[in-house]
Amino acid sequence: MQSVSVFAPATVGNLVCGFDVLGFALEHPGDKVRMELNDSGRVSLDLVEGDKGRLPREPEKNIVSAVVNNFLKYIGTNQGVGIRLYKQMPFGSGLGSSAASAVAGLVAINELMGQPLSREELLPLAIDGERLSSGSAHADNVAPSLLGGIVLVRGKNLNDAVKLPFPRDLVCALVYPHIEVSTRLAREIIPENIMLKDAIRQWGNIAGLVAGLCTSDKALIGRSMEDVVAEPLRSGLIPGFNCMREIALENGAIGFGISGSGPTVFALCDDKARARSLAGLLRQSLDERGIVSSTFISDINNEGAVVLSGKPHMV
Ligand code: HSE
Repeated sequence: MQSVSVFAPATVGNLVCGFDVLGFALEHPGDKVRMELNDSGRVSLDLVEGDKGRLPREPEKNIVSAVVNNFLKYIGTNQGVGIRLYKQMPFGSGLGSSAASAVAGLVAINELMGQPLSREELLPLAIDGERLSSGSAHADNVAPSLLGGIVLVRGKNLNDAVKLPFPRDLVCALVYPHIEVSTRLAREIIPENIMLKDAIRQWGNIAGLVAGLCTSDKALIGRSMEDVVAEPLRSGLIPGFNCMREIALENGAIGFGISGSGPTVFALCDDKARARSLAGLLRQSLDERGIVSSTFISDINNEGAVVLSGKPHMV
């Protein structure tokens, strides 16, 4: 195979209380990469579309070309490759934009090279991409984008990236206020140390959330979607956050929180019509504050990144 197209989905990091350790994949939006092998002996970034010229074009600075380059070094080849990146999601939005680009690039090059690595083996290379983009090697976006579903990444042991069961009727309503929050900055405002009472509450919530997902106990899932570590600080970066949470919980959401480092917020629902109407209400509350926003409604994507071989017209 000489060329391939890959779609990698956006993701919701943290799942509220699971700071850096829990995340899930969305059906859409996401990024697409088209990649072609050539005999140049180097990695070139031939096209970046959909970013309004804001992403770096230098192959060593752009996430996709950087992770592809690392992949080729890792498997020990100087194979040449041309990359086209089609950004189809906002960045600086909390939807794992850099993770989706890195994952699309890695799945594409792995496919073209005959799948020398498993998805799990691609994970460390994708995490390196996160380090490059945000200065932090968190895996709660790249793991679900690669593997699909709701993923728990326990500590630094990547063998412990565990896909959790979840109630299949979960639907996510997302509202992206058109303001930018840099992941780097949103991480800097979180203190190095937290109080023991907060740690106890947080690990109780994470355990409750995992138990709720495993037993399809939606009430337990909802009660556990509480974050006493990052959200109290980060919510101040999102205009009208508390008001949106009230609207979501009063209108039947199972739980509500910040997607990754924000500013996107999300409500987990178990009914698509409710998710749609809720997204409308949240959008309206931002309109009333003069903030333009976009909404997405998505099931949880259980597949992760997909190869669109033979469908190059989709890119
Ligand atoms: N877990 C990361 C954070 C996700 O919250 O900073 C960034 O999207």
